[in-house]
Amino acid sequence: MGLIPDDVIGQVIDRTDIAELIAGYIPLKKAGRNFKALCPFHHEKTPSFVVTPDKQIFHCFGCGVGGNALSFVMKHERIEFVEAVKLLAAKAGIVIHEDRPVDKAKEDLRQAVARANAIAVEYFHENLISGKEDEVRAAREYLKGRKIGSEFAKQFFIGYAYDSWDGLTDLLRKKGLSDLFIEKSGLAVRKEGNNTFYDRFRGRVIFPIFDQRGRPVAFGARALKKEDKAKYINSSETPLYVKGQHLYGFNWAKDAVTAQDCVIIVEGYLDFLRPFHAGVHNIVASLGTALTHDQVRLIRRYTKNVVMLFDMDTAGQMATLRSLDLLLEEDMNVRVAMLAEDEDPDSFILKYGVALFKKSIDEAQGLFDFKLKRLMTQYNAKTIEGRGKICQEIIPTIDKIPSEVVRDGYTRELAGRLNVKEDVILKERQRILGKITSRGVGVQENSQRAGKKAVHTDENCLLKLMLLDPKWVAAARQTLAPEELKDPMVRLIIEKAYELLSTGKEVDAASLVTCFDDEGMRSFVTASAQEDGTVKGDRERIFKDCLGRIRSSRQKTERQRILEEIQVAEKSGDSDKVRQFQNEFNTLIKQR
Ligand code: CTP
Ligand code: MN
Repeated sequence: MGLIPDDVIGQVIDRTDIAELIAGYIPLKKAGRNFKALCPFHHEKTPSFVVTPDKQIFHCFGCGVGGNALSFVMKHERIEFVEAVKLLAAKAGIVIHEDRPVDKAKEDLRQAVARANAIAVEYFHENLISGKEDEVRAAREYLKGRKIGSEFAKQFFIGYAYDSWDGLTDLLRKKGLSDLFIEKSGLAVRKEGNNTFYDRFRGRVIFPIFDQRGRPVAFGARALKKEDKAKYINSSETPLYVKGQHLYGFNWAKDAVTAQDCVIIVEGYLDFLRPFHAGVHNIVASLGTALTHDQVRLIRRYTKNVVMLFDMDTAGQMATLRSLDLLLEEDMNVRVAMLAEDEDPDSFILKYGVALFKKSIDEAQGLFDFKLKRLMTQYNAKTIEGRGKICQEIIPTIDKIPSEVVRDGYTRELAGRLNVKEDVILKERQRILGKITSRGVGVQENSQRAGKKAVHTDENCLLKLMLLDPKWVAAARQTLAPEELKDPMVRLIIEKAYELLSTGKEVDAASLVTCFDDEGMRSFVTASAQEDGTVKGDRERIFKDCLGRIRSSRQKTERQRILEEIQVAEKSGDSDKVRQFQNEFNTLIKQR
C-alpha cells in the first residue's frame, strides 16, 4: 500500500465524515438515516445514489458503483490511491510522514529485527566456516556431499546453527537486544507459560533470505538427516518478512534479470543456488509455493518474461499450473521448462551439467503447449467427452491472454489439435465464458456484475450478516473455509474479512472496501452492505441455515462432479480411473 502505513489509512478513513465529504462535491438530500443524490458517476434523472454515514460508505443503485470516502475521492477527482489518502489526511489534519512510518515504536522494532538478522547471518556463517566441533564438521561434510564447498558457502552466506538451545539467543542478548525484540525477530521462540526463550533453528544448515536490496529478512534451515521430520524450518513472519512477498536470490539475480530481460523461477533454495553458482544468473526461487501476486509484481518491475521451472513431481506441476494463470493475469509472457523426470534443477545440473540445463531453458514451451500437453495426458482426446473436458479447461486460460492475435492463434491451434471445427470452439468459448460471467470469476467479470443480484443467495446472505456485525465473521471463521464458497466474489471478500479479523483490524464494509482495487469488488461490498433488509429476523437461525445449505450444496456438486468423472472414465474404458473415482465417491458419501 505504497509508503503510507495501514494504520494511517485507517485513521484517515475514521476521521473523515463521508456525508460531509461528499456534500462538498454534490448536493445531498437527507433520507432517513441516509442521504440521497443524483449519481455523479452516471447520468440519471431520479436520485439513486445513497450515502450511508453509519457505515461510512456510498452506493449507487443505478450504476452499481460504491465505496468508501477514499474511493469516492479517487473516482471523483480521478486521482491515485496515495494521492487520495493525502488529500483526505490534509482535510482531517493528519500529518503523513511518507519516508518514515509515523509510529516510532514500529520503526524501532523494524530496526531491531534488522539488526538481529544481520547478527544472525554472521553468526551462522562464521559457525559453518570456522567451527571445529564434530557437529560442524558433519555439516560441512553434508554440504560437501551436496557439492557445496566453502567458496560456494561464502558466496551465499550459508551457515550452520548449533544444536543448542540458546547459542544465538545468548549472543543477541550480549549485543544488547531486549528479549521482546529477540522474540519479535522470530530467531528465538518463547516457551509456553514462562519467560524463557530458545533458538528456533538448531542443528541445521542455514540459508539466509535477503530482500531485493540485499538486507537479510528471513532464514531457511535444512535438516542434515533424512530421518528429520521437517526437512526445512523457515522463519516466522516478522515486521520485515511477510511470506509470499520475497523471492529467494532476487538480490543476486536482479542485474542479470534486467540484462537478459527474462527470469527463471524455480522452487527451492538449492534449485536457485546450483544454477546460479554454475553461471545461470537470471534466476529466483519461490520457496516451495505457487507464485503470489506480490512476487509477480516484484518481478514485473524488471522483466515481463518468465520461464517457470518447477519440480517435475505432482506438487511442482500443480504449483506451476496455479502460477500460470496468475502470471497471465498480470500480463506476463510465460514459458514452461521441463527437466528429466524425477529431477529438480539442483540434481539435474549435478547429473547432466549446466549446458544441458541451459538447453532445457531454451527449449521451454509456450504456456499453451504446456497446458494442452498436460490435459492431453489427463483426458482422452480420442473421445468426445475427453475433447469436451480439454476445451473446458484450456479455454479460460486462453482467454486470460491479453493479445487478441495470440488468443486467435491459440484458438485455431486448439481446433487443429483436437480435430474439431474452429467455430465450434468459439461457440464453446462463448458458452463457457458466459457461464463464468454469471458466476463472476475473475476481475473483468467482477466489474460487469457490479450491483447485480448474487447468484448464490445463501452465500450472499452470510456475507450480509458479516457486514452487519463482525461477530458473524468470527463465528464463520470457526467452521467455514473460504474455499467452500462457490461465488468467487463472496469468497474473496470473506477471505479478506478473516484476514482483517485475524490481524486485529476493524471488519466492516468501509475497511473491506479499502482491501480491493477492483471497482466491481468494491461495489459488490457496498451493495451487500446496503441490502441488509433481507436478513431481518433471528440472525442466529439465519446464520445456521445458510451455513447448512452451503455445506450440502457443496457436497452435492462434488458428488455430481465425481459421477461425471466416473461416466467419462467408463466410456474410455479406464477401469483404474473408474475405481479411483468410485472410492472417492464412497468416501464422500460417508462424510455426510
Ligand atoms: N520447503 C519448505 N518446507 C518443507 C519442504 C520444502 O519450506 N518442509 C520449501 C523449501 O524452500 C524448499 C522448497 O520448498 O527449498 C522445495 O521443496 P523440495 O523440492 O522438497 O526441497 P528441495 O529444494 O529439493 O530441497 P533439497 O534439495 O534440500 O532436498
Ligand atoms: Mn532438491
